[in-house]
Amino acid sequence: MPLLHALSAELRSLGGIVVEDARVVGVGWAGLRSTVGVRTNRGEIIAGTVVLATGTPILDRGGFFSRLRAQRSYVGTFDVGDRAPAGMYLAADSPTVSLRYVRRPGADDEPERRVLMVGGFGHEVARGGSERSHVQELFAWTRRNYPDAVLENRWSAQDYSSIDELPYVGPLLPGESRIQVATGFAKWGMTNGVAAALAISEQLLGTGDTWADTLRTWRPSELRALPTAAKTNAQVGLHMTRGWTRVVLSGKSEPGEGEGVVFRRGLRPVGRCTVDGQTSTVSPICTHLYGILDWNDAEKSWDCSLHGSRFTASGQVIEGPATEALGQV
Ligand SMILES: Cc1cc2nc3c(=O)[nH]c(=O)nc-3n(C[C@H](O)[C@H](O)[C@H](O)COP(=O)(O)OP(=O)(O)OC[C@H]3O[C@@H](n4cnc5c(N)ncnc54)[C@H](O)[C@@H]3O)c2cc1C
Ligand code: FES
Repeated sequence: MPLLHALSAELRSLGGIVVEDARVVGVGWAGLRSTVGVRTNRGEIIAGTVVLATGTPILDRGGFFSRLRAQRSYVGTFDVGDRAPAGMYLAADSPTVSLRYVRRPGADDEPERRVLMVGGFGHEVARGGSERSHVQELFAWTRRNYPDAVLENRWSAQDYSSIDELPYVGPLLPGESRIQVATGFAKWGMTNGVAAALAISEQLLGTGDTWADTLRTWRPSELRALPTAAKTNAQVGLHMTRGWTRVVLSGKSEPGEGEGVVFRRGLRPVGRCTVDGQTSTVSPICTHLYGILDWNDAEKSWDCSLHGSRFTASGQVIEGPATEALGQV
């Protein structure tokens, strides 16, 4: 948060404007392709150049969704007295676990405390079985290593990895610099995001062309990763087939509290979930490229195993390449 505050203060001091709570639903050419129009749920903006830094790009042009893997990981913070580690550690074995401490301001006159933060237990979005089981794994690991740990908060998040492991930073399409993307940070976006910003500003301002070429979208090194791309897309195909087979074979249609089920009504797939006693029914077909959604039992959301789009229990977009809410049935 201090980093974000500093960045937004600097942007504003240079005359920039930060607009929050607005969702971009489309980006396209305007003014005989001399400018770019950004359509949001709060109106349209015309820009000379647009940088899509939306996690995975929300535009399908460029096909980045097929060159990225969406990965979720879990985090918990725990009170462990004075046993929080003084440094930051990343496991060398599997599953990947990272440990660090977070400073918590004390209440009233109490001194600041150090809280243990445990992260990891990741998997590709909607592909690792029950999400709640990954949270339980994280808790169990923490209890084994810190028997007195008391949970304070827990959450999960997702990030995207490219097929050749380096971020994609540069034009959405070859030779077209008016729409830029920055993605594929592979859980190192706090640092790689800064590198991406430097690379894009260098390119737009024409101030140099140095190390940034390594990160460019449409780089030749990607050719070496073609076998990985083929494997990634074969898995997407497999998950597409599995999802639709699940609909055909479906049984249960009444979810218990915190559950979500996909079943068939006639020929139509139906998704139904119950959260805090409220049951919602949606079309479980992802609005990106029609994958069948899975219920995320940790975050109570509908998640897509194809390219990582996520939707709330009632079908609103949370994140991923999808820009439209789920249909009603
Ligand atoms: C568990 C975990 C631990 C991590 N630890 C580290 C670490 O130690 N060091 C490190 O460097 N990195 C770490 N990362 C990675 C880092 O957090 C990410 O790489 C980084 O946040 C990605 O930045 P981003 O800008 O691409 O995407 P995000 O941070 O996801 O930002 C994308 C933004 O775009 C907005 N958006 C999306 N779609 C739209 C739309 N249609 N309209 C308007 N806005 C939209 C979203 O609301 C969001 O605010 C970690 C990630 C995870 C999951
Ligand atoms: S995210 Fe692409 S089909 Fe769902």
